[in-house]
Amino acid sequence: MKRDVFVHHRPQWKTHIGFVLAAVGSAIGLGNIWRFPYLCYKNGGGAFLIPYFIALFLVGIPLMILEIGLGHKMRGSSPASFASISKKWEWLGWWQVIFVMFGIVLYYSVVIAWCLNFFFYSFNLSWGSDPNTFFFNKFLITSSGPFDLGDLRTPILFSLLLVWLSNWIIVFSGVQKGLERANKIFMPVLVFLTLVIVFWSLRLPGAKEGIAIYLKPDFSRLRDIKVWMDAFSQIFFTLSLGFGIMVAYASYLPKKSHIIRDSFTISLFNCIFSLIAGFGVFSILGYMVHSTSKEFSEVVSQSIGLAFVAYPKAISMLPAFQRGFGLIFFSILVIAGLSSAISILEAFTSAIIDKFHYPRKVVVSGLSVAGFLGSIIFTTQAGIYWLDIVDHFLTQYGLVLAAIFECIVVGWIYKASRLREHISHWSMGKLNKWWWDASVKLIAPGVLVALLVSSLIEEFLTPYGGYPWLAIIIIGRDWLIYTLFFALIVASHPWRVEPRERILSWE
Ligand code: ALA
Repeated sequence: MKRDVFVHHRPQWKTHIGFVLAAVGSAIGLGNIWRFPYLCYKNGGGAFLIPYFIALFLVGIPLMILEIGLGHKMRGSSPASFASISKKWEWLGWWQVIFVMFGIVLYYSVVIAWCLNFFFYSFNLSWGSDPNTFFFNKFLITSSGPFDLGDLRTPILFSLLLVWLSNWIIVFSGVQKGLERANKIFMPVLVFLTLVIVFWSLRLPGAKEGIAIYLKPDFSRLRDIKVWMDAFSQIFFTLSLGFGIMVAYASYLPKKSHIIRDSFTISLFNCIFSLIAGFGVFSILGYMVHSTSKEFSEVVSQSIGLAFVAYPKAISMLPAFQRGFGLIFFSILVIAGLSSAISILEAFTSAIIDKFHYPRKVVVSGLSVAGFLGSIIFTTQAGIYWLDIVDHFLTQYGLVLAAIFECIVVGWIYKASRLREHISHWSMGKLNKWWWDASVKLIAPGVLVALLVSSLIEEFLTPYGGYPWLAIIIIGRDWLIYTLFFALIVASHPWRVEPRERILSWE
């Protein structure tokens, strides 16, 4: 790529709404549909919304503004943006995009593949009358533990190939023709299908009781620190913060942008979507309670169990249109998952292009093949154990650590006030000094350090998920350490064009 072309012509979103939809697409993912409703139920129902919205306004939105502001100001991917602040911090940007690309998206794609399999199973309700046995013993055929890999599960492998093919086609086609166009289709379809499912579920007998349990506040739960930690970590994951995605997406914005307004829109849209999806989930669980003699606590289950066991069971019990309901529900999961997976692939692609200037098509093709191969471990019979351990370490430690450093580097080294002035200059309206600076410099890093310390204490007290220590060390901890080494190596490589030149060409 010619130097001048590289410095002056960064890809740009075609339309403003295109950017907003792509960022919303990244935020709304599997986490909104299966994790949020369960967290609400577990953590005091409606009372959980208090810490959730406090986390949103105290940490979520300020960091969304930070990431979008940083990408806009530095006109670069996460590594390029941190390198523009100081070369000493370039590794941080690499670490983010590397452990997300060679960690989170590997298993995330496998879960999308499961959803795709279940989409096809919906045609003849293959899970039968016992979805639990079907999922664990016939579909995953889980082995005895993480080191007993067993065989590859061909149906999952086949869907995984389709998932990576879709990731590849969309990101390969570029910012406007790929990401923007895909999200302009994905998001309206996702919202429409979700509304169909929610209204459908609301009309089922027992729905009201389900919703009462979803929202009934139990304020005494707010005294439990774990409830607050769940709220803060959910806000992080759901808004795709600390992934390096929003920085990359914002680097494709034009000069004249609405950083503050967009950050609010993206964050609020995402959280309202979660709330609404929860109505659908709890209505159908209420229907299950109504139709069986079971207690509510027996039908509600966590994340994977909710989507692949409780929901299929409820679908089979519907009075009519069971197949249609299954098809819609699993297409919602596939679309929500894909729009997040492509954003992760883009965050890494944009980082490689910024530093090494390889053509997009070559980078995306190489990464998609590597991503597919890397995901294969999660399609073995031990895949679910690996997924669980890697997810725990990368989200509880990787994302949190990266975000703490992000706050320190931007808030204290670059100075929050400098970025705030840039953001206010390019937004309609001024960014509140007290709220934003306090959040970026003190509140967000403070809360995140507390989250990290308490996770660590819990980790030492009891090995996560009851797995053997060896599995936790080799699969979880070492995964993070290797990605950090890799980040340090890539960061030590010289730049072909100094990242600051792109900013200077703009000023
Ligand atoms: N933000 C995405 C999700 O919630 C990663 O699944």
